[in-house]
Amino acid sequence: MTGAPGRRPVAVVPDGWTPRTGTDPVLEVEHGLVGTPLPRLDGPAKVRGEARYAAEHVLEGMLHGALRCSTIASGRITRLDTSAAEAAPGVRLVMTHRTAPRMRPLRPIFTAPRAFGGTDLPVMQDDSIHWNGEPVALVLADTREQADHAASLVEVEYAASAPRTSAGAAADPRRPDHLFFQPVEVAVGDAEAALAAAQHAVDHVYRTPGHNHNAIEPHAVTVGWVGDDLVVHDASQSVAGHAWTIAHALGVAEHRVHVTSPHVGGGFGGKTVWSHHVLAAAAARLAGRPVRLALSRADVYRVVGGRTNTEQRVAIGADEDGRFIALIHTGTSSITPWNHVVEPFTFPARHMYATGALRTDQHVVDVDMIANSFMRAPGEAVGTFALESAVDELAEQLDVDPVELRLRNEPDSDPASGAPFSARHLAQAWRAGAKRFGWTRPAAPRSRRDGEWWIGTGCAAATYPHQRFPGGAARLTLTADGRATVAVAANDMGMGTTTAQAVVTAERLGLPVERVTVEYGDSTLPGAFQAGASAQTVGVAAAVIAAHRALVAELLALVPPGTPLAGLTVDEVGSVDAGLGALADRDRWEGYAQILRRAGRHEVTAVADAADRDELQAWSMHSFGAVFCQVRVSSVTGETRVDRVVGSYDCGRIINPVTAASQLRGGIVMGIGLALMERTVVDGRTGRIVNANLTDYHVPVHADVPEIDVLWTDVPDPRAPVGARGVGEIGITGVAAAIANAVHDATGRRVRDLPITLDALL
Ligand code: MOS
Repeated sequence: MTGAPGRRPVAVVPDGWTPRTGTDPVLEVEHGLVGTPLPRLDGPAKVRGEARYAAEHVLEGMLHGALRCSTIASGRITRLDTSAAEAAPGVRLVMTHRTAPRMRPLRPIFTAPRAFGGTDLPVMQDDSIHWNGEPVALVLADTREQADHAASLVEVEYAASAPRTSAGAAADPRRPDHLFFQPVEVAVGDAEAALAAAQHAVDHVYRTPGHNHNAIEPHAVTVGWVGDDLVVHDASQSVAGHAWTIAHALGVAEHRVHVTSPHVGGGFGGKTVWSHHVLAAAAARLAGRPVRLALSRADVYRVVGGRTNTEQRVAIGADEDGRFIALIHTGTSSITPWNHVVEPFTFPARHMYATGALRTDQHVVDVDMIANSFMRAPGEAVGTFALESAVDELAEQLDVDPVELRLRNEPDSDPASGAPFSARHLAQAWRAGAKRFGWTRPAAPRSRRDGEWWIGTGCAAATYPHQRFPGGAARLTLTADGRATVAVAANDMGMGTTTAQAVVTAERLGLPVERVTVEYGDSTLPGAFQAGASAQTVGVAAAVIAAHRALVAELLALVPPGTPLAGLTVDEVGSVDAGLGALADRDRWEGYAQILRRAGRHEVTAVADAADRDELQAWSMHSFGAVFCQVRVSSVTGETRVDRVVGSYDCGRIINPVTAASQLRGGIVMGIGLALMERTVVDGRTGRIVNANLTDYHVPVHADVPEIDVLWTDVPDPRAPVGARGVGEIGITGVAAAIANAVHDATGRRVRDLPITLDALL
């Protein structure tokens, strides 16, 4: 008999966590691994150049693809001559709507459980054109250069009709069916009447432009058919979603499409299924050869959608103490008739402030452009710009510290639904952030100067909801040599998923982290996760919890009478020190290796679903934060530079401080771009994106990014699996408002249209 060395197993039943069965509490043995800083496990492979990305796979006999994209936004192709392209050196195939196989439209996200398409337009099926940049021909050649050259030789003429674009005349706004399955309208009391009666009020319109995806790795696929089976080496945020969606479009069985995507150079919501996936697969079938189709940077602007533009009204009415009696957030964004991504910018107003009356509502205007899509914190990124700018404007009017004004309006329960918050330690985050930043209430605007530079400080709240999706499953395998493997169809687009799940699994099994292997990024693995909505880490963790429980049952079934664990149930044991121990008696313990070897087993495996998502029903669950920054604005050029940023977050328990800090910092960097640089410029006459390159479309570079300090409450959320909420997207939220508020403090200028370029400050 072996006594358990080390820590005694304890059952931690998170307060209030009630699985659907109501009988099996979540057992957890604390090993202290969660929260330990761990450098990313895939780091060495990336640094050494061993990590292979989608466009780096080489398949036997592979051809290279190049797209020819439309130069009109709306109309028809009247002439299409591919003879010169077909005669060009190295060309093996020129596919157009005349020769492309019949394919079904992609299924966009929100239309089926695994649908992961960006749009439901058919791809290259007829002569109609729906946006400027729609692929009209795909050339396959022996080399990429030959393919590019031949694509330029395709002759296309069009009959163009006037496009509806976000830069041109707006059509009639319509109210969408839903905002990410939430109601579009929320009304508590009569907000307009309360606003009209308020002693203090602000009421302004804020605008944000469209944004395009510029992940460091442009989208690419390398595809090959083996009989009726398709292998897709992909850059994906959901391998299972990609397999399902590609299979659906091609009309083949889902299990015939095998998607691998172990390394992704950034996704941010853009690495979903777009036309290049199905075009490459269709062309590979026609050519009878594997195909690599790597989008150029310009191609990404043409065939991958980004964030839509918004026009938002925020009005706040307050009493003389600064307590909100009315909060209104409404507005309009552009959308295409072929997608369902209504940028839900009114979400933050529903959850952030106590208010006597509340109204939110959104409308959309249809445009003929590439389908807009998800981009980091869709909704909250731009919604917090408007809301948190308005709160700052009210603070100025009230002559109150903007931090104090926010603390004064902290709600006790969700202002829209009335539901209790699962956990909300935003006030603590505000105080900790203010202390770290050295926040003092700014004096009058335009009162601090350093040489040519006006200096200003600003702050804003950050928020992003907790989400968890169906379909979460994991396979856990334990071998007699004391190692474990967790297998999940999860995705790592650079944020550290592998590392976080190694920590979660090791913690669960009572193993050192280095004894755990994480298999992921392959659609044949269990589960159907998406690296989206900041939900994957917690979703996988919930599946690991379920699989661990099933694994413990398997192990207990191997235990013979007369041994330490005989007669114990799953609920009575916990994993500790590479074995199982009775929760009630520390002397009843046996190592995994011993259990397996005695049973003559090399390994034991369990697969389980995390079916229960009850936490989503009863509680209002969100990550929160407080962002502080200092800027300087040149009195000569109007240029804004960000001097420093402090982000103070309340995201529940932090699983791995190294990768969590990186996520939050990365979000803040993207927020700097949102505030000061990013803007998709569309020619309203043609619907053409005119800055489809990283020379003219500006994103922050190293020289634009100051010291960014992040801190967190690290208070476990009692309703969330492993106590953690998402950290992936909240970082971008609040940043644009904090910067705009700091620019106002520096210059006295209130800029309500993003980005804040120097012309607005001269
Ligand atoms: Mo995120 S925009 O849900 O990938």
